[in-house]
Amino acid sequence: MELSVIVPTFNEGPNIAELLERIGAQLAGTAFEVIFVDDSTDDTPGIIAREAAATGFPVRLIHRDEPVAGLGGAVVEGFRAARARWCLVMDGDLQHPPEDIPRLRERAAAGDVDVVVASRYVSGGTANGLADVTRTTVSRLSTMLTKAMFPRKLAACTDPMTGFFLLDTDAVDIESLRPRGFKILLEILARRQLRVAEVPFDFAARHAGLSKASLTQGVRFLTQLTMLRFGRMSAFALVGGAGAIANLVIMWGLIRLGFDYIPAALIASEITIVGNFLLLEYLVFADMRDDSGRMRDRFVKSFAFNNIEAIVRIPVLWVLVEGAHFPSVFAAALTLLVAFIARFLFHALVVYGPRKRRAATTAAPEPVRAAGRSLDT
Ligand code: GDD
Ligand code: MN
Repeated sequence: MELSVIVPTFNEGPNIAELLERIGAQLAGTAFEVIFVDDSTDDTPGIIAREAAATGFPVRLIHRDEPVAGLGGAVVEGFRAARARWCLVMDGDLQHPPEDIPRLRERAAAGDVDVVVASRYVSGGTANGLADVTRTTVSRLSTMLTKAMFPRKLAACTDPMTGFFLLDTDAVDIESLRPRGFKILLEILARRQLRVAEVPFDFAARHAGLSKASLTQGVRFLTQLTMLRFGRMSAFALVGGAGAIANLVIMWGLIRLGFDYIPAALIASEITIVGNFLLLEYLVFADMRDDSGRMRDRFVKSFAFNNIEAIVRIPVLWVLVEGAHFPSVFAAALTLLVAFIARFLFHALVVYGPRKRRAATTAAPEPVRAAGRSLDT
């Protein structure tokens, strides 16, 4: 097997037949396979199965009932299942033209790089297929931000956000990747220094269907960037900081409404605790949720910890205000800061700590999903 083509799909039924036909045309004479890693909620798996039967090359379908880590998680699942060492990752909507595959392979054949990136932003490439001005601007700005944060690792890459690339999987420690959302190439390039080459390509318009890009993906991307660069604790701090500000604003508002500062602090804390938990679930610890039991149990632990923390914090707040004559909002800020460290440790080790380690199955062909999580990013 010379090449595994990995295609993540989410409701891409109308694109499958044309995609397979065009990939097949480009790779005639090559020993290759196509692996669809599918999280669809519609009839896409059925369409893939039907179309696969009509091709002259191996097409495999991994349908995930639990779409862990979205698009990025699907690509990693594809790497694990791939039979070839070199994997080509491309979208299933034909925005990544299969006609560019030979140029990617030619560049890789020179033998001096670990990954060949199909770039929209290197000279000769275009991003015309991006839906509108907003998408174009967001793409440009986030690319700049990302490159600024990883000046060395991304020095040779003009388009770390592309989803179209050819990778030597021997150069990557697949199990150390922590995919979340869309930006799987960034995850790969930021982990360790790879030798990167680029090939320009025209990012085409979607063949059919709708884009799954969204504001949520944007927020996921910013979290991923923070965690890749500064570690999980900094993302936790960012969420905590936002929570602390919300907490103080709510408290201030309640005081303005005539509440005494103690009940105001209590109400503000309860609201913040629930909001914080949701942000931790979906952003900071999204990749550890899987191994840490049920969401309800996590909420109970998190809620209990934060309330005990608040119960301890309020008397301290009282002492600071009545005894040391600190302004109440400033004193509240101080206690929130001290509570932060304890909260991070508790959440990382207890709330999101691995509960049931799934047995390492040596016999099963599909590697265990999400095994070996650790606390570092
Ligand atoms: N398995 C799986 N699970 N596939 C998904 C998921 C998911 O949760 N979400 C999206 N996909 C698939 C889509 O079906 C498509 O094949 C591919 O991933 C890209 O998704 P689109 O919805 O078409 O995203 P896009 O065109 O807005 O984004 C593309 O371009 C960006 C650059 O602007 C992607 O290639 C991004 O990775 C890329 O950063
Ligand atoms: Mn697309």
